[in-house]
Amino acid sequence: MPTVLITGASRGIGRALADQYESDGWTVIRTCRSPERTEEMALDVSDPRQVQEVAEKLSGTPIDVLINNAGVIGQRDAAIGNIDYDQWEETFRINTLAPIRVAEALAENVAASEKKVMVFVSSVMGSIARNGGGHYLYRSTKAALNAAMVSLSMELESRGVICISMHPGWVRTDMGGPTAAVAVPDSAAGIRNVVAGLGRQDNGCFYDYTGAEIPW
Ligand SMILES: NC(=O)c1ccc[n+]([C@@H]2O[C@H](COP(=O)([O-])OP(=O)(O)OC[C@H]3O[C@@H](n4cnc5c(N)ncnc54)[C@H](OP(=O)(O)O)[C@@H]3O)[C@@H](O)[C@H]2O)c1
Repeated sequence: MPTVLITGASRGIGRALADQYESDGWTVIRTCRSPERTEEMALDVSDPRQVQEVAEKLSGTPIDVLINNAGVIGQRDAAIGNIDYDQWEETFRINTLAPIRVAEALAENVAASEKKVMVFVSSVMGSIARNGGGHYLYRSTKAALNAAMVSLSMELESRGVICISMHPGWVRTDMGGPTAAVAVPDSAAGIRNVVAGLGRQDNGCFYDYTGAEIPW
């Protein structure tokens, strides 16, 4: 069975993805910032040393699907006069630099697998075309992630790797809140469905969990 590695698997969408892939018989590598169960691997994605340690532990292990899911919303009420720049830098480290660092560290594992897929959990809020204002930190860090994903998709194309950005929907997690439109299991199932249908032509694209393309 294929292997999937999911970052931020402690709760929310990441945990649901891990549970669903496991139910389907996949080998699931759950990475968590603060592991609570023996099957969870420690990985604070913003810590370069931990990323390196995970890459060393997994050296030689093919990873069919790498899901860079861990993310934070950052300061929600940023506006002229109260922007928290320290928090903005931290949000960039987690939402933008970390997924690319993890992808860089595990690129050989993905390239050595059968499916060769990298999913970057982004957000429609990172779409410049659909920017409805506010959320400076979250929008900019996800837009930058999208840009980096496209560069990576071009660099890894010759090795058969398929990279996509994924908007999981507005989901009822700690981040999405209780009034969000989509239930966690439905988002995870949708993402898995999109991943299952990916082909070379999808490399470098931006989709939501229903498979609809999102404008940059
Ligand atoms: N929910 C939505 O409506 C929505 C919409 C669009 C995009 N997204 C994206 O979907 C992804 C998952 O979000 P969610 O809704 O499931 O959020 P969530 O319930 O708040 O969960 C966030 C997950 O990310 C992990 N995480 C945060 N910082 C980390 C770090 N430095 N290292 C490792 N793990 C870290 C958290 O771990 P801890 O438990 O250790 O904090 C947690 O597992 C995020 O990338 C988010 O931006 C969500």
